[in-house]
Amino acid sequence: MVRASVVSSIATLVALAASETVRLNVARSAPASSSPPISLDFQSFSIEFAFLVDFNGNKSHPNKFTNNLLTNLRAFNGDVPQILRIGGNTQDHVTYFPDQKEQIINFWDPSYNSDQPRNTSIGPTFWEAFTAIEGTRYIFGLNFYKNDSTYLDNLRGEVEQSLLQIPPERLHLFEIGNENDYGALSGFRPPTWTQQDWVDEWVYRSRHIQTPANPLRFFAPSTCCYNITTPYSFFSPWTIWNSTFDYDRDGWISEVSQHGYVSGTSQNPSLQAGTLMNHTSVVINGTIHQSLCNLNHHAGRIYTLGETNSVSGQGAFGVSNVFGSALFVLDYELYYASFGVNRMHMHQGTAYRYGAWMPISQNGTGPSTNPPYYGHVMVSKFIGSNPSTRINNIDLNSEFYSAYAAYEDGRLARVVLLNLHEWNPSSSQAEAEAEAAPSTTFTLGTGRDGIQYATVEAMTAPGALSETNITVAGISYDYDLAEGKPVRVAKQYESVLRPDDKGEISVPVRDSQAVLLTFH
Ligand SMILES: *[C@@H]1O[C@H](CO)[C@@H](O)[C@H](O)[C@H]1NC(C)=O
Ligand SMILES: *[C@@H]1O[C@H](CO)[C@@H](O)[C@H](O)[C@H]1NC(C)=O
Ligand SMILES: *[C@@H]1O[C@H](CO)[C@@H](O)[C@H](O)[C@H]1NC(C)=O
Ligand SMILES: *[C@@H]1O[C@H](CO)[C@@H](O)[C@H](O)[C@H]1NC(C)=O
Ligand SMILES: *[C@@H]1O[C@H](CO)[C@@H](O)[C@H](O)[C@H]1NC(C)=O
Ligand SMILES: *[C@@H]1O[C@H](CO)[C@@H](O)[C@H](O)[C@H]1NC(C)=O
Ligand SMILES: *[C@@H]1O[C@H](CO)[C@@H](O)[C@H](O)[C@H]1NC(C)=O
Ligand SMILES: *[C@@H]1O[C@H](CO)[C@@H](O)[C@H](O)[C@H]1NC(C)=O
Ligand SMILES: *[C@@H]1O[C@H](CO)[C@@H](O)[C@H](O)[C@H]1NC(C)=O
Repeated sequence: MVRASVVSSIATLVALAASETVRLNVARSAPASSSPPISLDFQSFSIEFAFLVDFNGNKSHPNKFTNNLLTNLRAFNGDVPQILRIGGNTQDHVTYFPDQKEQIINFWDPSYNSDQPRNTSIGPTFWEAFTAIEGTRYIFGLNFYKNDSTYLDNLRGEVEQSLLQIPPERLHLFEIGNENDYGALSGFRPPTWTQQDWVDEWVYRSRHIQTPANPLRFFAPSTCCYNITTPYSFFSPWTIWNSTFDYDRDGWISEVSQHGYVSGTSQNPSLQAGTLMNHTSVVINGTIHQSLCNLNHHAGRIYTLGETNSVSGQGAFGVSNVFGSALFVLDYELYYASFGVNRMHMHQGTAYRYGAWMPISQNGTGPSTNPPYYGHVMVSKFIGSNPSTRINNIDLNSEFYSAYAAYEDGRLARVVLLNLHEWNPSSSQAEAEAEAAPSTTFTLGTGRDGIQYATVEAMTAPGALSETNITVAGISYDYDLAEGKPVRVAKQYESVLRPDDKGEISVPVRDSQAVLLTFH
């Protein structure tokens, strides 16, 4: 159905650059390999529990910046609320104090971690954060580590306040524990703890917080890990669903959450060399999620990446906080959409290197809109607002090029093309240099009938290492311009193209750039 070939030719005008041509046939109606219809909340987020107040604020001081950025993204997707999962490592170190006046007290201990507090106390005003911003829904992450004499009171307090203070239509699910497969190895339970013990303890907790008047439903198991060589090993997201464990014995687990990062800070992550700007690597890393997605879909369960991003350990400077990671976000999210993942929750924390935005000012930086945010804008634009949209990965068999087609009501509506060759301008004359970046011409065979023209919008920056001066369709979302509201700083369309008499459309895409074609 979809074939591609890459043809090299020497460009005569650009001395240093070899210009390539990538040919792809784009089916006009949705191929069988397309995804099921994409949920309009596909692109959701996860916010580290201890930082929710930084992101959202409170009743008297709502965080308008976060509100603006999420509103922008939602607007592309029919204003369907994103789901914010409030959790992560810190959720398992939270204690609720009914008499605490402060919203949140984070206890920092640099010997423990410089990115996250060692523990967190919250009072009833903590929950003001949930309604301080508009239009979002929530998954509330409850504490699973705590195992002293007050742990059930703690859980019940967290549940009670959530039911009291989060409007029912905004409270999607609860989660009990974060990555407890990994946590078990780090010693919060005895070494003899088994997967069956985990399941039994989870079930015990869920039953002791259940409120029949407001039936609680859950997001689980929130596993971080998967033993790739031996998938059916101890603490496995595959076997936890085996009937022997009887995990969902009450029928209260309504969505599956699996975590995933494509690299880690200890793995010397880079942009080009196999990590973020590498479509082959995205595909290889996707295989386990494809397996888990199939397993869960066959069992009738929704499958999400409940916490995910590029480089685990909060990201890496020069990799996660630069424009190359915006290209990664686009390739990664659309690839996972194409094989049917129901939702992606990209994880965020204050000052995290992979953060799409820095919500507050801290230690001389921020607030700021960060490069990955622009990847989210492009994903939202590509998904659009039609609930019938299906996405097809057009396999170009390449590390450097990636393409996806979106079908509305079965008909071709949009194509996104990524050129993942890393390009960095050599001097401070970044704008001028960017014009000289090598480019690849994508020639799309779309057939002659039915398409009158295609508009071309770009996600672009001076180079892959740029931290600023990024735009999508000529729009900047920078904090300094309008607190994250869209501001036009360049033209919207790169070009408007008509199919030639062979029914082909050719579009140049610069190295380290992505373009969105919308067909009319
Ligand atoms: C709300 O946030 C502001 C700004 O951070 C803070 O000064 C105030 O104490 C907070 N209100 C409550 C109830 O915590
Ligand atoms: C946080 O950790 C500190 C140091 O271990 C301890 O003194 C404090 O009681 C802890 N607070 C909570 C809420 O767990
Ligand atoms: C949790 O604490 C209870 C006693 O409070 C104990 O019986 C149980 O073994 C503990 N569970 C684990 C897994 O440590
Ligand atoms: C995977 O599971 C097998 C069998 O249980 C074990 O030998 C191996 O060490 C595990 N690998 C990892 C990375 O945990
Ligand atoms: C359960 O797990 C085992 C490995 O422990 C696996 O071989 C088996 O296929 C699984 N059974 C079912 C019914 O999924
Ligand atoms: C891209 O990733 C693949 C798979 O890991 C690897 O074989 C290839 O060398 C990588 N490409 C570059 C340019 O690093
Ligand atoms: C992702 O793929 C790379 C090879 O391209 C591999 O080294 C790495 O372990 C994978 N990571 C995960 C989490 O699967
Ligand atoms: C604050 O910024 C300085 C200078 O950029 C840096 O050295 C220091 O580690 C930062 N401190 C924290 C807590 O992030
Ligand atoms: C970013 O844009 C500003 C003007 O908006 C310009 O002054 C600056 O040189 C640009 N920086 C880069 C790295 O292109």
